Amino acid sequence: MAPVRQRNAKGLNSTEIGRKIKRGNALRQGTAWWTSRGLTTLLLVILCMCGSATWLYVTLDSDITETLVSQRENVSPEPRVYFIQCSEDYENYKRYPGCTPQKCGRAVADGVVTREEAQALKRLAERGLQLAGSEGGASILDLHSGALSMGPQFVNIYRYFGEQIQDVFTQEDFQLYRDVRKRIQTVIAETFGLDQTLMYLTKPTFFSRINSTIAKTQHDEYWHPHIDKVTYGSFDYTSLLYLSDYGSDFTGGRFVFMDQNGNKTVEPKAGRVSYFSSGSENLHRVEKVTWGTRYAITVSFTCDPTQAIADPALP
Ligand SMILES: *[C@@H]1O[C@H](CO)[C@@H](O)[C@H](O)[C@H]1NC(C)=O
Ligand SMILES: *[C@@H]1O[C@H](CO)[C@@H](O)[C@H](O)[C@H]1NC(C)=O
Repeated sequence: MAPVRQRNAKGLNSTEIGRKIKRGNALRQGTAWWTSRGLTTLLLVILCMCGSATWLYVTLDSDITETLVSQRENVSPEPRVYFIQCSEDYENYKRYPGCTPQKCGRAVADGVVTREEAQALKRLAERGLQLAGSEGGASILDLHSGALSMGPQFVNIYRYFGEQIQDVFTQEDFQLYRDVRKRIQTVIAETFGLDQTLMYLTKPTFFSRINSTIAKTQHDEYWHPHIDKVTYGSFDYTSLLYLSDYGSDFTGGRFVFMDQNGNKTVEPKAGRVSYFSSGSENLHRVEKVTWGTRYAITVSFTCDPTQAIADPALP
């Protein structure tokens, strides 16, 4: 009997061992299966987190900026032109054939105004603006209306200074302004295929001086994105003539076209003219000036003869 029991015991033992082995295998397989699923999940979570972080980084933080024209370049004799589709803004206004934008875009030209002319205009701006100026870092002098920033407000230089203004500005200064205005008008007409006799200077047309001093009033906040046609209904073509150099006279202060697919900057340079159609196809801003002083003149044109202004002149 004993041998049988032994056999039985052995038999039972071997069966139990077999079961145990099976159960052990199942458990081990279960653990292995669970572990690999856990790892996969963990990996997925990590991947998702990385993905979201990248997405957040790309959408919130990255600033896709392209330099259209750098300060060092010399865009001459031909302007550099970038055509873009016109916005619908112009449809809300009367159409003036030969002038109302059919072609829209932006361009930069360094061959229209010489550096010497820009320097002469800068001295004129310095003389005019030193009569007063905003306390907030952004001052303007409108030669046509005579508006000059003074503290938080504006004064009319022609009224305020009367005859004395002739000690500050000369006939030659105004002649230079007129010559430059005419050349800018011609290059805009050539670029956009317009009849320049159907384009008119419009207001405001002004000198601006910007430094890094903190804004005191809303007038000092020049850096907000805007659309000229929305801000000033009469504008059809805007031009900026830079009177100082990005990088050496000031830092920051680049001009930025804000397109859906990225920002495109123009670096100011004395004598450089940057011009563009004024509608929302050319949403733009000026970066904050971080050091030095930036001088520029804004010269704008309308197609609407009722919005025309005469060239600035001494009273
Ligand atoms: C353009 O610049 C503005 C700030 O100046 C920024 O908020 C925006 O994301 C930029 N656009 C692109 C597409 O990079
Ligand atoms: C900026 O210009 C204002 C005058 O508009 C002047 O009071 C201020 O001192 C200037 N700031 C710097 C940093 O040059």
